[in-house]
Amino acid sequence: MKEKFLEVLRTTKQNVFVVAAKNEEKRQAMTVSSVFSVSLEPMSMAVSVNQDASLHDLLTLETKFSLNLLSSNQAEIAEICSGAEEGDVRFDHPDWEMSEIPFLKNAQSNLFCKCKKIIPIYSHSLIIGEIENIKHSGITNPLIYQDGKYL
Ligand SMILES: Cc1cc2nc3c(=O)[nH]c(=O)nc-3n(C[C@H](O)[C@H](O)[C@H](O)COP(=O)(O)O)c2cc1C
Repeated sequence: MKEKFLEVLRTTKQNVFVVAAKNEEKRQAMTVSSVFSVSLEPMSMAVSVNQDASLHDLLTLETKFSLNLLSSNQAEIAEICSGAEEGDVRFDHPDWEMSEIPFLKNAQSNLFCKCKKIIPIYSHSLIIGEIENIKHSGITNPLIYQDGKYL
């Protein structure tokens, strides 16, 4: 049945985000698609992050992170941040802007969040972030992931 579940998931069209955070010692970025808006008051988002992912332990309460909704021409950065590169090397890409919170300046939109709740569930944690700032290009042409391919 697990194979059928994966087959169903592969049929869905998923928006692709890169979530990024840093503390004094290190920075991490990873590609995610299990992302959804939670509430409008306050504006909040949830991201499901595998507990084995390098970014997981960096996302502690009150940590700020960026949630970058990728544009259709950013499949390369999605690949880099999902295993093609590891660790800090993921930031060796001209799309990154290194401010207090690293973010992708050519993304369709950037949601700047502060981690308010961490809900461990099975192999993952639901990271709930309140939105503190938004950068939006106004363009509607997001990168889509379906059936193992970027569209
Ligand atoms: C399109 C796509 C969506 C993904 N979505 C998620 C996700 O929502 N949550 C998650 O934990 N991993 C997700 N992954 C897997 C991580 O990006 C991948 O395991 C990454 O390498 C983890 O970072 P790490 O290697 O630094 O641990 C996704 C991968 C791809 C290609």
